[in-house]
Amino acid sequence: SAPLRLGIAGLGTVGIGVVKIVQTHAEMIMRRGGRPIEIVAVSANSRTKERGADISGYAWEDDPVALGRRDDIDVVIELMGGENGAAKALVETALKNGKDVVTANKALLARHGTELARLAESHDRVLRFEAAVAGGIPVIKALTEGLAGNRITRVMGVMNGTCNYILTRMEATGQGYNVLFDEAFKLGYLEADPNLDVGGIDAGHKLSLLSAIAFGTEVDFDNVVLQGIGSISLDDIRLARDMGYSIKLLGVAQMTGRGLEQRMTPCLVPETHPLGQLQGGTNMVVIEGDSVGQIVLRGAGAGEGPTASAVMGDVLDIARGLRLPVFGQPAATLTDAPPAVVSAG
Ligand code: NDP
Ligand code: HSE
Repeated sequence: SAPLRLGIAGLGTVGIGVVKIVQTHAEMIMRRGGRPIEIVAVSANSRTKERGADISGYAWEDDPVALGRRDDIDVVIELMGGENGAAKALVETALKNGKDVVTANKALLARHGTELARLAESHDRVLRFEAAVAGGIPVIKALTEGLAGNRITRVMGVMNGTCNYILTRMEATGQGYNVLFDEAFKLGYLEADPNLDVGGIDAGHKLSLLSAIAFGTEVDFDNVVLQGIGSISLDDIRLARDMGYSIKLLGVAQMTGRGLEQRMTPCLVPETHPLGQLQGGTNMVVIEGDSVGQIVLRGAGAGEGPTASAVMGDVLDIARGLRLPVFGQPAATLTDAPPAVVSAG
C-alpha cells in the first residue's frame, strides 16, 4: 500500500518522541497500520539545535504553516503548542488543503475546538487529539469508541501531573508549596507559563475537551469553574490527612438539570479512593456510564514517551482508515448546552 506521509511541526519533547517511535518501530507500525508510515518534512524554530534524534533525512520548513500546503504530506502533526499563532494557522491550513491533522495541543482545542472540528468535517478531514488529554492515557478512545454505547453521567479526574506532584510531595515531605513549586520547576515539569499548571488552566482545558465528547456539547472552556493550588497550605494538607482525605486538583464534569457543570478545583478526596491514592505526576480519569458503571484509567499524563504514544495511536488510526467525528459525533450536532456555573467554594 502507499505510505502514509507525515509532516511534523514542533520537535520538542513530544515531537522528538514521535520521531523516535516512527524510526524505532517502523516494521511493527507497518503491520499494524497496514501501510508504511514515513516522515516527509519537519519544522521547528531552530534548524540547527541538537535534538537527540536524526532528522537529517527529512525535508525542512522554516515556516511550519508551509507543511499544511505541501502536496507530499497526508497528515500534519502539530506539536508546537499555543492557543493561537502558528499552531492555529497550521491546523486550519492543513485541513483546508485536504490533510488530516493530529495534535496534542489542549490550549488550542479548548479555545477553538468546536470551530476546528467544524472546519475538519466540512473538508471531510480527520482531526485527532488523544495526546491533548491525560497524555498517554487513551481516554478519548475510551469515550468515543469503547464506551460509545453509554450515556455518560460523569467524568472526573486528576489531569495535571505537575499539580499532583506538588500536592503529593507536600503531603510526603512536609515541605511548603513554594519549595515544591521550585522543585517541580527544576525538574522541568512546569509549562513555560507556570500559571497554566498551578492555576488549574491546563487541567481545565483538558476537562472542557472531555465534556464536549462525553456530553455532546460545544467546547465550553469559559464556563469551567477554575481554582488553582497556589493557596493550599501545609496546614490544609495536614488537616485533610487527619480526617482521612488527600487534597487533589480534581476535575468534575456532569450534566445537571441546570446544564453542563464543569469544575477544576482543589477537592478533599478520601485516601481510600483510587483518586486519593494517586501519587506524583500520574493522571487518573474516572468515567461513569449508564451501562458500564464506573471505570478508572490511570497512567502517565505527560512526558516524551507517553505523549508520543498517544499521538502515534491517532496516526495509526488514520493509516487504518478510521474516520471518526472529532468529538465522537458530527460537530454540527454538538449542542450549545446552557451552562451551569457553580461557585468554586
Ligand atoms: P516543547 O516546548 O518541548 O516543543 C515545542 C516545539 O515547537 C519546539 O521544537 C519548538 O522549536 C517548536 N515551535 C514552537 N513554536 C514554533 C513556531 N512558531 N514555529 C516553528 N516551531 C515552533 O513542547 P512539548 O513538546 O512539550 O509540547 C508540544 C505540544 O504537546 C504542546 O501543545 C503541549 O501542550 C502538548 N503536550 C505536551 C506534553 C508534554 O508532556 N510535554 C503532554 C501533553 C501535551 P525549537 O525546538 O526550535 O524551539
Ligand atoms: N503540564 C502538564 C501536566 C503537561 O503537568 O500535566 C501535560 O499536559
